[in-house]
Amino acid sequence: MGFNAMATTKTLLDFDRSNDEQSALCDDLERIADALPGHVDQARTLKVAERISLVLGRAHDFEENEVFPLLEARASESSMVKSALGRFRSEHEQDAYFAEEVREALIDFATSEKAMAPDALGYMLRGFFISLRRHIAVEREMVDLVLG
Ligand SMILES: [Fe+2]
Repeated sequence: MGFNAMATTKTLLDFDRSNDEQSALCDDLERIADALPGHVDQARTLKVAERISLVLGRAHDFEENEVFPLLEARASESSMVKSALGRFRSEHEQDAYFAEEVREALIDFATSEKAMAPDALGYMLRGFFISLRRHIAVEREMVDLVLG
């Protein structure tokens, strides 16, 4: 196996790990949403809240610095790949903002009296993890299509 093939294999393994980490975060957020309104574990919720931006930031940096350049190099003439990568980057940006809102809402809910209504929090959480799961799946398909 040549150096480039080995580097690609390593990046794909890291991509799997990164996706697993993001999926685990989605599962944790879904558990919290399912536990609403009354059965939310405060300590656990705060832990998840603190992980959101960390996990997302790490995944975005890795994908944009290592995965996307690989796709661009492999499919430099493909306008479909180019426009998909543009979409992924802007979804990262939107998700980063959304993640901050979710983080704050979770911390407020776990710690303060002035938290948003459980229904609204549940709606927000579902909006976040459903769109993140969709993003992960579409990105995965594109990676498999180009590098698989
Ligand atoms: Fe992504």
